Amino acid sequence: MNAKDVIIACDFSSKEATLEFLDKFKEEKPFVKIGMELYYAAGNDIVKEIKRRGHKIFLDLKLHDIPNTVKKAMRVLSDLDVDMTNVHAAGTVDMMRAAIEGLTRPDGTRPLLIAVTQLTSTSEQAMREQLLIDASIGDTIIKYAQNAKEAGLDGVVCSPLEAGIVKEACGNEFMTVTPGIRFADSGKDDQVRITTPERAREIGSDYIVVGRPITAAEDPVEAYRKCVKGFLGK
Ligand code: C5P
Repeated sequence: MNAKDVIIACDFSSKEATLEFLDKFKEEKPFVKIGMELYYAAGNDIVKEIKRRGHKIFLDLKLHDIPNTVKKAMRVLSDLDVDMTNVHAAGTVDMMRAAIEGLTRPDGTRPLLIAVTQLTSTSEQAMREQLLIDASIGDTIIKYAQNAKEAGLDGVVCSPLEAGIVKEACGNEFMTVTPGIRFADSGKDDQVRITTPERAREIGSDYIVVGRPITAAEDPVEAYRKCVKGFLGK
């Protein structure tokens, strides 16, 4: 059985803003996602500090380059001791295999590695018209997930709406990490393929990634608890 959890996307632009946000959590130690904005602003310092405070970390840098470059970048990242990181499945099976090779430490351990299928901000129309991918979103995601599984990855990032078809195609043990979560009574921002924490649980997400509905809430701790309750039922 995969672990299930709510991951907070800490999309802040400085170390100070991030720590001020995390200080609000007195009772819980949420799983934290560090994305490009924060990592490019605060680097390894913030990763180490959040780790030191006892949070699990998903380092969401979405690597996508030639296999050799990704392998070497992953080798550097493997020293950071994060719990999860990722690449774009669009980089091909060879690139994903190289990523695993780079990420695996001499003792054989490594963080979880997942692949981004199609970003949850991408609509099928944009995919067909701008990327010239002549297939449905569903078929593209299944194929990208199968490629990730073939390369030996642990799972994929996809919309919660697609978690079910990924599990069907790749098996229940293959992890689904799903951003694009909104409360029933809130707006979509720039996300397109979205759903609620409750529905994400029903469809089969293993981890939901929630950013603005928590970070921009008047009371982020209460919003986090609402997500946990909806997703984990407790
Ligand atoms: O604020 P919001 O809840 O939309 O944040 C979602 C987070 O998940 C952002 O940090 C975004 O970069 C990330 N993400 C995504 N879609 C993907 C992969 C990651 O929205 N396919």
